[in-house]
Amino acid sequence: MQIIRQLNTLKKAISDLRSNGSTVALVPTMGALHAGHMQLVHDAAKQANHVIASIFVNPTQFGEGEDLDAYPRQEEADAKLLREAGVAILWAPTAEEMYPHGYATSISVSGVSMGLCGGSRPGHFDGVATVVSKLFNQVEPDIALFGEKDYQQLAVLRRMVRDLDFTLDIIGVPTVRDHDGLALSSRNAYLSAQDRAAATHFPKALREGIAKLEDGADVATTLREIEAQILAAGFKSVDYVSLCDADNLRELNRLDRPARLLSAARIGATRLIDNMAVNPS
Ligand code: PAF
Repeated sequence: MQIIRQLNTLKKAISDLRSNGSTVALVPTMGALHAGHMQLVHDAAKQANHVIASIFVNPTQFGEGEDLDAYPRQEEADAKLLREAGVAILWAPTAEEMYPHGYATSISVSGVSMGLCGGSRPGHFDGVATVVSKLFNQVEPDIALFGEKDYQQLAVLRRMVRDLDFTLDIIGVPTVRDHDGLALSSRNAYLSAQDRAAATHFPKALREGIAKLEDGADVATTLREIEAQILAAGFKSVDYVSLCDADNLRELNRLDRPARLLSAARIGATRLIDNMAVNPS
């Protein structure tokens, strides 16, 4: 596996990989890799001849007071996992290579970026859309894979790809969960043992709420009950619990189409997100 930090070296390496007509999959990450990321890599390897993974802790998607400086960085361990999984290239640009002096462009996807995490993290999805469009232009992959755990991010990127005529396919990969149901996340590493134990109640509250919704319970009442259940488990606050159209993420007050239950909640100093499918009967 080549570890590349300069764009001109990357372009040359990719043109070598593609010289015999091979296809390329991109797995964009911010590192601190866990089994959820590795699932993206394994799925990518099944669908393309070569896998390129990127690691870049993107400063423009962190708001003021968020965890940019504390975000876990472990490139050596990540590189080992990627090498063992057969990744051809690890693209790990420096911040200066990604955003050179004078950089002034931002991509903003309206509609689907608003509300949910876009409401509690203003500017976050502009940062994501901008860096991912740069990664797409740098790597020019045939496909790119993203976890469904960041469901709004996936919806934003699908919209961006349609709107800006990128020719790649975006593949969403189901969330990988720990033995007790907690969605894997690099941020789980921040949780104390006590908070980690309480965190299992987050997916549990969502699952129990979904069972009620699919049984025909009132949406507003059920969302309030889910929030109360999360708070009772020891979470400090709930940013949102919302039932949304599974495609465009517009909020629903009736379960009359394929939907997604999405939530973000804070425990200790950590903000966790999760989402699950909800199906009308
Ligand atoms: O999901 C992530 O890890 C990041 O948001 C991404 C897509 C790599 C962009 O920085």
